[in-house]
Amino acid sequence: MHLTTDSTATATATATTTTESPIRSEGKIAFIGGGNMAQALIGGLLAQQFNPADIIVSEPVEALHATLRQLGVQVTTDNQQAITDAAVVILAVKPQVMAEVLMPLREQFKNQLIISIAAGVTISTLSRLLGDYPRIVRAMPNTPALIQTGATGLYATTAVDTADRTLATNILQAAGLVLWVEQEQQLDAVTAVSGSGPAYFFYLMEAMIQAGQDLGLTEAQARALTLQTALGAAKMAVSSPHAPDQLRKNVTSPNGTTQAAIETMDTAHVNVHIQQALQAAATRSAELAIALASK
Ligand SMILES: NC(=O)c1ccc[n+]([C@@H]2O[C@H](COP(=O)([O-])OP(=O)(O)OC[C@H]3O[C@@H](n4cnc5c(N)ncnc54)[C@H](OP(=O)(O)O)[C@@H]3O)[C@@H](O)[C@H]2O)c1
Repeated sequence: MHLTTDSTATATATATTTTESPIRSEGKIAFIGGGNMAQALIGGLLAQQFNPADIIVSEPVEALHATLRQLGVQVTTDNQQAITDAAVVILAVKPQVMAEVLMPLREQFKNQLIISIAAGVTISTLSRLLGDYPRIVRAMPNTPALIQTGATGLYATTAVDTADRTLATNILQAAGLVLWVEQEQQLDAVTAVSGSGPAYFFYLMEAMIQAGQDLGLTEAQARALTLQTALGAAKMAVSSPHAPDQLRKNVTSPNGTTQAAIETMDTAHVNVHIQQALQAAATRSAELAIALASK
């Protein structure tokens, strides 16, 4: 199995200097659910000069309406109203409520491209809930989308044409890197690597901050050094032509301090444990998909 990248989608989204948005939708973009992820994606669209008047969000929680209105988008509590004039509908509700959200909307879906970001809800489940609806793209974003540094895996069946794929790419790319997979099952791997991935880096940061304190730094000092180091390492890895293993070797002098640390990790098989952890995440992702399919 291998992953494919869209040729236009390998770079992180950057703010464009023109006033015209690169995102071309023949109608409004509707969000069903206006929570964290929806707001992250809307932030990305607005950063790409997409007209907020062309975004409508259906969200039952009145407390979120003021935040959404501040973005300049139209807000409703009526899902049917949201999708009436929409060319694209982004399903941004929790997976557990997807069936109850979609069943009443079956008749409203005629010509819209649907993009679901709900973890574990398969295309066949979505299509079945909508009476064999074909124009569906499944996306697995991650939380750094909130700061337009997300990583999103996308999958669609052959029923989705190139124009729809490009539109989905452009919408999700507004929140960061986008990459297409060839098989839906690979979204379990995407979930394991990037969907859950930010938590692994936070976990490593936690451990490094604790170790720094154990070695005599204050919590504030250990945290500042750890976060800046994570940022610096990520920026180096992204900008360098070298793979991470080469970058690591470059900073590991024989018999030096880094070598002492890496040898300790190797002896403890930390790399094997990380691989097992991602395997567990992928397995759980597949289990959740099966459980949600039976609802
Ligand atoms: N957060 C992540 O890292 C991440 C990553 C990848 C994918 N996702 C997926 O993104 C989706 C949204 O996640 P999130 O973190 O943004 O969740 P969230 O903050 O809970 O947002 C979902 C929103 O949808 C609302 N909602 C519930 N029922 C609805 C209905 N019938 N019609 C319209 N809106 C309704 C919810 O209201 P209530 O609070 O009243 O239920 C909530 O405000 C999930 O399916 C998740 O699997 C999230």
